[in-house]
Amino acid sequence: MGGYIPESGTGTVVRAARAGAGRYPPLASLVVSTIAAFSAVIVIAVLHSAYDEAVSRTRTLLGHNLEPTPWHPFPHDKGRPPPRAALRCAPLLSCLPPLSHPHPSPPNASRSRRTKQCPAYFAAIHRDLAPWRRHGHGGITRELLDSARSRASMRVTITGNGRRLHVDLYYACVQSRALFTVWSLLQLMRRYPGRVPDVDLMFDCMDRPAINRTTGGPNPPLPPPLFRYCTTKDHLDIPFPDWSFWGWPETHINPWAKEFRAIKQGSRRVKWGDRVPLAFWKGNPDVASPLRLALLACNDTNLWHAQIMRQNWEEEAKSGYRHSALSTQCAHRYKVYAEGFAWSVSLKYILACGSMALVIDPRYEDFFSRGLEAKVNHWPVRADVGMCESIRDAVEWGNAHPEEAELVGRRGQRLMQELGMDAVYDYMLHLLTEYAKLLDFVPSPPDTAQEACVGSVLCLADEGQRRFLEMSKAEPATGEPCSLPPPPAAADG
Ligand SMILES: *[C@@H]1O[C@H](CO)[C@@H](O)[C@H](O)[C@H]1NC(C)=O
Ligand SMILES: *[C@@H]1O[C@H](CO)[C@@H](O)[C@H](O)[C@H]1NC(C)=O
Ligand SMILES: *[C@@H]1O[C@H](CO)[C@@H](O)[C@H](O)[C@H]1NC(C)=O
Repeated sequence: MGGYIPESGTGTVVRAARAGAGRYPPLASLVVSTIAAFSAVIVIAVLHSAYDEAVSRTRTLLGHNLEPTPWHPFPHDKGRPPPRAALRCAPLLSCLPPLSHPHPSPPNASRSRRTKQCPAYFAAIHRDLAPWRRHGHGGITRELLDSARSRASMRVTITGNGRRLHVDLYYACVQSRALFTVWSLLQLMRRYPGRVPDVDLMFDCMDRPAINRTTGGPNPPLPPPLFRYCTTKDHLDIPFPDWSFWGWPETHINPWAKEFRAIKQGSRRVKWGDRVPLAFWKGNPDVASPLRLALLACNDTNLWHAQIMRQNWEEEAKSGYRHSALSTQCAHRYKVYAEGFAWSVSLKYILACGSMALVIDPRYEDFFSRGLEAKVNHWPVRADVGMCESIRDAVEWGNAHPEEAELVGRRGQRLMQELGMDAVYDYMLHLLTEYAKLLDFVPSPPDTAQEACVGSVLCLADEGQRRFLEMSKAEPATGEPCSLPPPPAAADG
């Protein structure tokens, strides 16, 4: 019965980020020990300059010596670049092109005729990008892109026919989000060699959307284009798959492909009739989420048919995360999804169980949550007054209609089955392809950017991170990407 809801919010994240920074030895002591190891002065000089350069170029990806983002301050230790990593990785940081590129698989005519339609929620790509689509040409100028900089944690350029990636980091991301998001783009480039368009984009890795949708005037100025992990109806941030699809080392959550397989297997162990006929939630209520605090009041199995449990991260860490294995969390017929500080990465793990998901009125949207259909693949629960009653009613309905409830659970699981990494990469490819069409300039990396490639990211990562990165490596696609539904005719303008 052990289980938990992983957190997208801040609380635990801040502590972990600080603890992580302490691992790196002070710069001076490392330089001294490095120097002591070499007698020849010339060797020292060469090493030293390689070292300096490496430190300045690695500063950002690991996010240790940057100012906190001004709009989401979080404490972290300044002035602690990761010198060991920098020194070790110096030879890899130049990202020399591999001797042989994987060749793009030639479009196979017999195959492409059979290309699959993308899932329906891919259509949201057109909606997300609509503000910049102007009368058939792109509305994103260099100046407009620059205007997003003050809210971005990094700028990413892809050039050379989808073969080179540069990152210019402005602010530290919590934990390893920046590392994993850059990794996700590099894997997209591996999966579709030569197919990823040249792009120049601003990315923010913090939780909450920042670009307000304005309703002013007949000719409102174009909003700054900014990618992040989620958006809302009132925002124009462009949602992009979050890091957890490639793994979340800080919480021991495996890459999605592996995690889904395990959860699905776990879900087969408990048949519907044997599942506890209650609504279950386990997570961290202390993430500045009024919703989760309100949920605590529904913790009454008799009155509300709900079991609300607190996740104790420190205990979990001590026990080696044994009790938080997601694959053992499919023992209830109903599983509650409650947003945290913003969207929560837990949605996919909850749906993967095949229990009927009770989704409390979500305000945030990530790229696939637009595929949620009320009473088809989940059950909606009210967030405002009457939340506990709403949970109780859902459970009573489900227990009175077990076959239908089971079907809703199955459809939720199927939605996740279809959200394989194939779909995630296809979404990224289509999103970037459509975005690239809106740029009215030729992308090129700024002087301050550093190149990132698979070798340099793997080298910069610590051992724990590297395990997750290796597990989530992509292979070149053997087929065509799914085909994107066309924009709805009336959506232009
Ligand atoms: C195209 O795909 C078909 C079926 O998968 C295969 O038999 C054929 O050899 C492929 N052709 C090329 C040129 O790759
Ligand atoms: C967006 O709206 C929020 C709340 O209304 C406000 O606090 C914030 O300053 C606005 N952001 C911008 C960039 O205008
Ligand atoms: C909910 O109730 C159960 C049983 O009374 C209790 O063990 C648990 O700690 C409660 N949850 C919270 C978050 O207080």
